[in-house]
Amino acid sequence: MEERVLSGEASMNDVSFEQSLRPQSLSQYIGQDKVKNNLSVFIQAAKMRKEALDHVLLYGPPGLGKTTLAVVIANEMGVNVRTTSGPAIERPGDLAAVLTSLEPGEVLFIDEIHRLPRAIEEVLYPAMEDYCLDIVIGKGPEARSVRLDLPPFTLVGATTRAGSVSAPLRDRFGVLCRLEYYNDKQLTDIVVRTAEILETEIEWDGAVEIARRSRGTPRIANRLLRRVRDFAQVRGDGTITLSLADEALELLQVDKLGLDHIDHKLLRGIIEKFRGGPVGIDTIAASIGEESTTIEDVYEPYLLQIGFLQRTPRGRMVTKQVYEHFKLEVPNS
Ligand code: ADE
Repeated sequence: MEERVLSGEASMNDVSFEQSLRPQSLSQYIGQDKVKNNLSVFIQAAKMRKEALDHVLLYGPPGLGKTTLAVVIANEMGVNVRTTSGPAIERPGDLAAVLTSLEPGEVLFIDEIHRLPRAIEEVLYPAMEDYCLDIVIGKGPEARSVRLDLPPFTLVGATTRAGSVSAPLRDRFGVLCRLEYYNDKQLTDIVVRTAEILETEIEWDGAVEIARRSRGTPRIANRLLRRVRDFAQVRGDGTITLSLADEALELLQVDKLGLDHIDHKLLRGIIEKFRGGPVGIDTIAASIGEESTTIEDVYEPYLLQIGFLQRTPRGRMVTKQVYEHFKLEVPNS
């Protein structure tokens, strides 16, 4: 896959940088108001009852703050968070080891929970429902099952694909939260907040420009801010102004709507090779050299959101807006 300044996915470089920028409490967390309001009630109620918070499933496109929210939930509950991911848990014993090492009330965060193997999911069911673990000792006719008690805990699962979480697993979460793309005002506030932490001077118009081109995604906004800050330091006097942000973002090949060269390749590919569609996702993927799942999880959600792509039973189609955006003649059909 090509390097992408707009990727919603975190690169290794971003991880520690991002952690230092992340809000630590619900009051610091900008946006996702419905999710925040609901969570604050459930957290307060659990604390009043001195119970662990019910299990929470966070879902939505990459980069919208699912991991951040898991940490915020743990902070608000006053407990530690243990972090792992679906693909990192290979055997039932791996999960059993994590579960048995939890302290009462702790948060276990499983990222990409839809990628947990089915056999491991089954270990989670009694753990989530009854805080216990069924372990099979021995083999064949000698085998017997032993039940181990676990401390009460909160599982926070995150996924970009709610539809790929199996129904039995999904049903065991008491709280389901869908994260939405952020609006320009919320992203501008995030850019200004991050610039403050980075001790970078930024004018409001400069922040608005970065926000507008961040595809509704804080992770992208913070990454673009970091790149524009480099230009401000080297080419300007350190202050991010509107004209500097505009110039830097042009050089980064991020267009006015926040689309980059991969979005362009994808959309132009559908127009030039498939007459605007409909065309199947696998065909598009092969024609531009990307994985179908990457297109579905990372690029496509935003293009659907802004009405540039449509999903039809016969495949993907570009809309009239795409022709207009690229200043191409809109075909009659
Ligand atoms: N940084 C990244 N995401 C954020 C958010 N939702 N609120 C505040 N700062 C952030």
